[in-house]
Amino acid sequence: MCGIVGIACLEIENIGKMIRRCLERLEYRGYDSAGIAVIKNGTLIVRKGRGKIAELNKRLKFDEIYGKVGIGHTRWATHGKPSDENAHPHTDCRDMIAVVHNGIISNYLELREKLESTGHVFRSETDTEVIAHLVEEHLRPGSEPLDAFRMAVSELCGTYAIGLITVLDPSKIFFARMTSPLIIGVGEGMNMIASDIPAVLEYTNRVIVLKDGEIGYITPTEIYIEREGRPVSWKERVRVISWSVDMASKGGYPHFMLKEIHEQPLALSNTLSGIEMENIRNICSLLAKSDRIFITGAGTSYHAGLVCDYVLTELAGADVTTFIASEYRKYINAVDERSVLIAISQSGETIDTLMAVRAFKERGCRVIAVSNVVDSTIPRESDMVVYTRAGPEIGVAATKTFTTQIMVLTIMSLTLAYMIERLREAEYRELIRQIRELPTVTESIIRMHEARCMILARYMKNRANAFYLGRGLGVPIAMEGALKLKEIAYIHAEAYPAGESKHGPIALVERDFPVFFVVLDDYYVEAIVGNVMEMRARDAYTIALAPRKYIYKFAKLCDYVIDMPNIDYRIAPIPYIVPLQLVAYYTSVMRGLDPDKPRNLAKTVTVE
Ligand code: G6P
Repeated sequence: MCGIVGIACLEIENIGKMIRRCLERLEYRGYDSAGIAVIKNGTLIVRKGRGKIAELNKRLKFDEIYGKVGIGHTRWATHGKPSDENAHPHTDCRDMIAVVHNGIISNYLELREKLESTGHVFRSETDTEVIAHLVEEHLRPGSEPLDAFRMAVSELCGTYAIGLITVLDPSKIFFARMTSPLIIGVGEGMNMIASDIPAVLEYTNRVIVLKDGEIGYITPTEIYIEREGRPVSWKERVRVISWSVDMASKGGYPHFMLKEIHEQPLALSNTLSGIEMENIRNICSLLAKSDRIFITGAGTSYHAGLVCDYVLTELAGADVTTFIASEYRKYINAVDERSVLIAISQSGETIDTLMAVRAFKERGCRVIAVSNVVDSTIPRESDMVVYTRAGPEIGVAATKTFTTQIMVLTIMSLTLAYMIERLREAEYRELIRQIRELPTVTESIIRMHEARCMILARYMKNRANAFYLGRGLGVPIAMEGALKLKEIAYIHAEAYPAGESKHGPIALVERDFPVFFVVLDDYYVEAIVGNVMEMRARDAYTIALAPRKYIYKFAKLCDYVIDMPNIDYRIAPIPYIVPLQLVAYYTSVMRGLDPDKPRNLAKTVTVE
């Protein structure tokens, strides 16, 4: 879950600064240590250490490194704790080669043993360092570095996106990809490699998304890609990305997360205008013909899946099973050619979701991807795709990608229900009309409630625990609200169907214990009122998000209320999550934390 970057330019540039800026755009992938390696006058300069990029830049002066070719890395530790030694880039015994890597080399212990027995000396505990020594091992006098790199890569097992430079061929950056994401940024007089598109946007919006098994190199003017030993033509694979560099910067906001919460009206309206109904209808025809629908995702994307599950089951009467991607194995024997899998992943690269997609495809299952990143691996390996148009999301905690995922999934579910005549035309049209209003509705929720969410955050900042309770479609929203608070404010938060709270969780409730209630469906109002009373009787601090029409009822009962618009409950999950995102954000900030970079988390999880 690290981020890697490589830049090759024609002229000597302030390359350390360029790499540092690119790495900062990848810091959401990991931020426990970072480093840069540059070739200058035939020698390798390596600066690296534990800490965030901005702190390291002050200490190690990345910005003062000049050169034409360099690589950089921002780390999320897997093998070896965060330390100066374990920070990338890693070098060989003779400091001729430097390598950065994202992924896990699963056979690194065998390789390391073998290399140590032939005299290689290791300086870190990482799996990555074997790559530098392996290439060194294969470099014979007179041999080409590309051959040595190719041979080294052929010995690696596991997942990797690799960038490698060597003083023996100083104009090239060698790369290889297996499962971990890697793109090439195609520039003028410069080319780049990076883990993700936002890293290169300042320099180019033309990218090639590399595929598994591809290796090659870039120079300032040349791109070479091969697969199974044969050159691959790439010109037709260059994509022009519509994201701008401003979209990947904070634009005056203190944090990306706050900017991304505020961008939701725009993200929703862009997603809405980008939806091709023909595509949705084709997907619905496939769903209508299937015997069983599976839905999968990880983290926030799983919660979006639960929303879709509810609408598809309740409205379309479909046979739906939703599971956390890493748990796919249980379902393998229930999958066949008549099953469909909806795989939800904003990044399109989450390894757990990708593994589920691959396993299901092997059983003949058709796969529909919902993703925010064009050409990423999961959409590429799926049969059909719907893209959300949220723009780049940098904050680790997903916000605008969640609401846009729910938007496309809800449109899909409603369209299926209409196509199979479970939903009358008038009702379908009314629901679609309400969806079209969501950008405006969401905007007014932010405007009206941001200050109230801040007040609530003042209460939350001193709490150690919280419950989020809901019923029906309120449950996945409660789960997402709890996840947001847990991830970025480090407050233990759990979500339950409100009815279930009496079967255990209520034992923890004591004076001032915060309990959020997500009330979005008329059907459950009275039952939730009962649950609020139970919590009040135990002196809990009760907070309700409820439709305006019930607000007096809840205001009389609860310590704090946030009034939500009177909209159909099947559309309501989108606006309802917004105040919960804001509460989590302000609680994190008031606790002195950085909501964009929560400890131990990375935005895109590319290791199992
Ligand atoms: C990580 C992130 C979450 C995200 C999840 C799934 O855990 O921290 O915010 O929801 O991965 O990511 P995906 O890109 O597959 O939606």
